[in-house]
Amino acid sequence: MALTPTRDDKFSFGLWTIGWVGQDQFGGPSRAPLDVVTAVEKLSELGAYGLTFHDNDLFPIDASDAERTAQIGRLQKALADTGLVIPMVTTNLFSHPVFKDGGFTSNDRAVRRYSIRKVLRNIDLAAELGARTFVMWGGREGSEYDSAKDVRAALERYREAVDLLCDYVTDRGYDLRFAIEPKPNEPRGDILLPTLGHALAFIETLARPELVGINPETGHEQMAGLNFTHGIAQALYQGKLFHIDLNGQRSIKFDQDLVFGHGDLQNAFSVVDLLENGGPNGGPSYDGPRHFDYKPSRTEDYDGVWESAKANMRMYLLLKERAAAFRADSEVQEALAAARVAELSEPTLNPGESYDDLMADRTSFEDFDIAPYFNGKGFGFVRLQQLALEHLIGAR
Ligand code: GCO
Ligand code: MN
Ligand code: MN
Repeated sequence: MALTPTRDDKFSFGLWTIGWVGQDQFGGPSRAPLDVVTAVEKLSELGAYGLTFHDNDLFPIDASDAERTAQIGRLQKALADTGLVIPMVTTNLFSHPVFKDGGFTSNDRAVRRYSIRKVLRNIDLAAELGARTFVMWGGREGSEYDSAKDVRAALERYREAVDLLCDYVTDRGYDLRFAIEPKPNEPRGDILLPTLGHALAFIETLARPELVGINPETGHEQMAGLNFTHGIAQALYQGKLFHIDLNGQRSIKFDQDLVFGHGDLQNAFSVVDLLENGGPNGGPSYDGPRHFDYKPSRTEDYDGVWESAKANMRMYLLLKERAAAFRADSEVQEALAAARVAELSEPTLNPGESYDDLMADRTSFEDFDIAPYFNGKGFGFVRLQQLALEHLIGAR
């Protein structure tokens, strides 16, 4: 299997990822700003297919119309020159102090009205550039102090804003869907819709839930100690995996945004296996962009930035290769059968069986012998896991 990325792999990067200049809470930038044209050219050369951006990655929040138009024009020309596409656009509702208490859910009503207007303007741009997904990461939607935020009112204002945006894309006839990106905390002490489960439940309260899905990020679920693969599986199960942010995180701590696979490697392996081999007939279960939302470490110069961009794609392709080998291994197939993994897909009831029928079936209860489950009837999951790890580390 080829380890050189091609457009068919659908790898995309945020302009804010390769363009992150390395500032943090304790120090200023360690790199000079990256021009969007260089970003497009370089990503194209490395084999990516897409670039994504926040409005203010491209032009400042206070840009004049002329500056804004000029930057969009430069981007469009670079796209035309390289063939790179813009699969997703998102809005910055977090950097400027105006958003210090959030955008859609700020206690300040004027800020909420401004935020919706800023997003509407950016939706027009997303549609103009042919993006199909519009991500909403509400990093500033939340609080530090419980008494300062009426969470039920905040969720109602969130719903009001998202409903309005859904009406807008519908009325304009845009082929654009929304993807909410959960995160438990940072920059707020607690962020609203902290996990993908919270977001999935919120989506059901919307007027047009079919237009809204999720954009889960590896590290964000792992910051909450959750299993990203399980979350992705539930998102797929509910038809809500509209986009994905792949990166690396090592345990419960601040958001590390490491290269994909440089955090929990086992979980990265199972995510790739799910995305690539978890479809109904063993093929891909997701056909959207494989989007990397990482931050090249502050220690790196631009050579290191491009090495890290390559590392994301190479890790994905290596894991895809390992997952294919895992699936093809006859010993693995035998271990999967012994572990009765496929048996879980069999409905628990027979076709047409009612609870009366179930209660009449003595083999299901009265005559069912639970004793052999002590000291016997092991599932062999550990053997299966060992085989998976041996494939992951290239020992098989
Ligand atoms: C984070 C987030 C952000 C969002 C991005 C999209 O690391 O906290 O991933 O990077 O994905 O801003 O709006
Ligand atoms: Mn993150
Ligand atoms: Mn993200």
